[in-house]
Amino acid sequence: MLSSDAQFAARYVENCRILVPENGLKWRALRPSPTEFDFTKTDWLFDFAVKYSLQMRGHTLVWHLSLPRWFSETLNSRNAERHLVHHIESVAGRYAGKVHSWDVVNEAIEVPDGRPDGLRKSPWLEFLGEEYIDLSFRVAAQADPEALRVYNDYGLQYDTSSHAAKRHAALRLLERLQAKGTPIQAFGIQSHLRASETRFNAEKLRQFLRDIASMGLKILITELDVSDQGLPADIEQRDRLVADAYREYLDVVLDEPAVIAVLTWGLSDRYTWLSEFKPREDGLPVRPLPLDENLERKPAWWAIAQAFDNAPLR
Ligand code: XIL
Repeated sequence: MLSSDAQFAARYVENCRILVPENGLKWRALRPSPTEFDFTKTDWLFDFAVKYSLQMRGHTLVWHLSLPRWFSETLNSRNAERHLVHHIESVAGRYAGKVHSWDVVNEAIEVPDGRPDGLRKSPWLEFLGEEYIDLSFRVAAQADPEALRVYNDYGLQYDTSSHAAKRHAALRLLERLQAKGTPIQAFGIQSHLRASETRFNAEKLRQFLRDIASMGLKILITELDVSDQGLPADIEQRDRLVADAYREYLDVVLDEPAVIAVLTWGLSDRYTWLSEFKPREDGLPVRPLPLDENLERKPAWWAIAQAFDNAPLR
């Protein structure tokens, strides 16, 4: 998007101070084969960031999705550790010193998978056991000691039983990691919000943020967007409800001193994963981001600005 759409790139530089490749650093994008890496596009992004003085975030070194086709035919419990270590050393190592923070492990929790520890039955877990998480953080710390090391996950912010269970599992995971000295420094809350969701409880969210902070960890809001699925078609009304969800959420989040960054998952409705992943029932284009499809500011942009203006200075 940044290389092919000059207008969008200009808006990006105007509005943002930190850049995260949406897919470019995932295995599928970087790994044409078990022995090769293709850094062409990510090198371009790192150059772009330098040119416009943007910080770079790395997303993500270890995930159960976006794996290359060769992955399932190649990896097994005997060689998975070697592949994991080689990947982290190569990718984090290549950009060492140039990354603000790395999502070292993404989405390792899935309570419905039924394990007592709440961990997802991902290929990494099946091959290596829970130890893959600790190992990943240790290798990342060696490969790029300067990048903040983040555990990133979703489904944590609402007052529902599934989100409560996930918050619980996340805190227990953090405790286990800290007990064994895993070099984790921050927790990333993806924050894919739904404007139609009424089960938002500011106090429970505050408590969760405090619980993480009390472990000495920083917090990042890593993938904020607001789905307008289920909202009325009327654009004015829809944009207002989406903006309200941004403001309500950020008002809580920006109160917590441990929060060091907020990133949206995209900038303009021109490009958003939600067109595909959370389309509207009426087929109208979705409007989840701060700028509209013409790159103009929406009420959501002003809501975010206002939340930052009102936030305590740190
Ligand atoms: C999404 C991308 O936005 C899509 O383009 C891609 O098809 C699938 O992945 N949680 C994450 C992100 O950590 O990597 C996901 O990104 C969105 C949910």
